Amino acid sequence: MSFNAHNTRQDFAIFAGSDVAFLDSAASAQKPRAVLQAMADFAESHYANVHRGVYRWADEATQAYEDARQAVARFLNAPSPETIVYTKGATEGINLVAHSWGQSLRAGDEIIITEAEHHANIVPWFLLSQRQGVVLKWARVDDDGVLDLDHLQSLISAKTRMVAVGHVSNVTGTINPVAEIVRLAHDAGALCLLDGCQAVVHEAVDVQALGCDFYVFSGHKLYGPTGIGILYGKAEHLDKMPPFQGGGEMIESVSQDRITFAAPPLRFEAGTPPIIETVGLMAAIDYVGQFDRQAIARHERALAHQASKAIVDMGGRILGTAPDKAAIISFTVDGVHAHDLAQILDQCGVYVRAGSHCAEPLHTRFGVTSSARASFGLYNTADDVEALIKGLAKAKSLLMA
Ligand SMILES: Cc1ncc(COP(=O)(O)O)c(C=O)c1O
Repeated sequence: MSFNAHNTRQDFAIFAGSDVAFLDSAASAQKPRAVLQAMADFAESHYANVHRGVYRWADEATQAYEDARQAVARFLNAPSPETIVYTKGATEGINLVAHSWGQSLRAGDEIIITEAEHHANIVPWFLLSQRQGVVLKWARVDDDGVLDLDHLQSLISAKTRMVAVGHVSNVTGTINPVAEIVRLAHDAGALCLLDGCQAVVHEAVDVQALGCDFYVFSGHKLYGPTGIGILYGKAEHLDKMPPFQGGGEMIESVSQDRITFAAPPLRFEAGTPPIIETVGLMAAIDYVGQFDRQAIARHERALAHQASKAIVDMGGRILGTAPDKAAIISFTVDGVHAHDLAQILDQCGVYVRAGSHCAEPLHTRFGVTSSARASFGLYNTADDVEALIKGLAKAKSLLMA
């Protein structure tokens, strides 16, 4: 279907009768009726626990749960549904890898991350380094927010076990050269985990073409529900990894003195999983997939470009000025605190995020403690940019008077 943001906006009940300029999709995107309806239909007519009962609803629920896994595998071009693990979100996916795969590490082994990471791709590795004496190394970004690939390469050594980087920055929108990073990691015998939270929203991702070992994302940023995320892992790694959590359905057999575990992905899905949410995620993937994704990206980027230009014209500073960026802009205005800015924008019906966006090291790198962030989704239009620009002018006149 051809893409038109004015039409897609109509698909979202939350915008009905509202002229709110919602510019915080990078934190969590709104959900189209198709997603909410799919979850309601499933809950009202097929709901039961999965992989447990033998009655009809249990069968239908299990089928829907596994159909969604197949849809995710197709979405990422993963080689098989067995490489797709359901998690609570990207954060849990990275924690799973750090805890489970991380057990194979020895003191002195090295993990490389970057200064631009979301805390979700910092803290699990930091905790691992504390637990097991693993060394955490930080690759630099330059003044434009672009990853210094030479520096990253110089950090890679025979002791490197993992290079974990964001595909797209949630602060600057900068797109990392991830295929190249995967190659550098593999050349050194290390693995590569990609945090795709902000990437799957803005571009088609092919994990086989990228060659990465792990890829994570969260459903709620992709117009799906909260409480569901995806960890893709190459079978050769998942097969060897011990469980992350213990409980029902992740086992093969349990006796008083011996427990054996199920094969992946169920080995990593202890307890009752988010069932309705998998149906919602599949609906979100279908929803996004009906449009030309490049057309969406072009539209979103044009809006972000227009907003960036206006912010700079007003004397604001954009954090991260790489030419090729996804539609996320974080900015500061001298003498104005980002929270004050966001509050005045709120009064104008413009919703942006303020703070460090769970990326404190990157803010430190830019020499600021906080910024305001406008992030664009497939329902944003030029009206939203206009509202943002008007709101900023008002904020400036009030706060700098
Ligand atoms: C780049 C990136 N990684 C990880 C996360 C964490 O996602 P979640 O809170 O859904 O686990 C986010 C969320 O903002 C993000 O933007």
